[in-house]
Amino acid sequence: ENAALLKAIIENAIDGIITIDESGHIETINPAACKLFQYSPEEVIGKNVSVLMPPPDRNQHDEYIERYQRTREPHIIGIGREVKGLRKDGSIFPFRLGVSEVPFADRKIYTGFIHDLSREKEAEEQLKEYA
Ligand code: HEM
Repeated sequence: ENAALLKAIIENAIDGIITIDESGHIETINPAACKLFQYSPEEVIGKNVSVLMPPPDRNQHDEYIERYQRTREPHIIGIGREVKGLRKDGSIFPFRLGVSEVPFADRKIYTGFIHDLSREKEAEEQLKEYA
């Protein structure tokens, strides 16, 4: 069945996938995202997605979403951005974030695709040391 296939694809994706509601609360998180942020689904479902980021974005993310809903002017949706994530152990890692707005069952959700950039950034730093 189609829904089961989609679920299998999301469960086995290499990139992290998180969905939030219109107020920024986490509704679903796939295994790749759990591994990156070091949380189990139960620990973060229902929490504000801002728990997964360091300041200053952490304190402003609700405003980012509100502003988008008010102005319809995207800053990440359809563009992407390199941002920082905060793991459960307090460490910070860089990733490429892609966000889409998804009309779903008479409401709206947002999906976030998380592509880890830790290795690339480390390699970049090492190259700089040799330069
Ligand atoms: C907007 C950071 C995760 C959904 C933004 C902006 C920043 C940001 C900086 C606004 C940029 C600006 O106004 O110039 C982060 C960071 C994350 C994160 C550091 C690390 C965990 C997510 C996730 C989702 C999401 C996982 C969705 C599941 C949104 C939405 C907006 C937004 C809907 C408003 C639309 C837009 O500006 O295009 N975020 N975000 N964010 N973010 Fe996040």
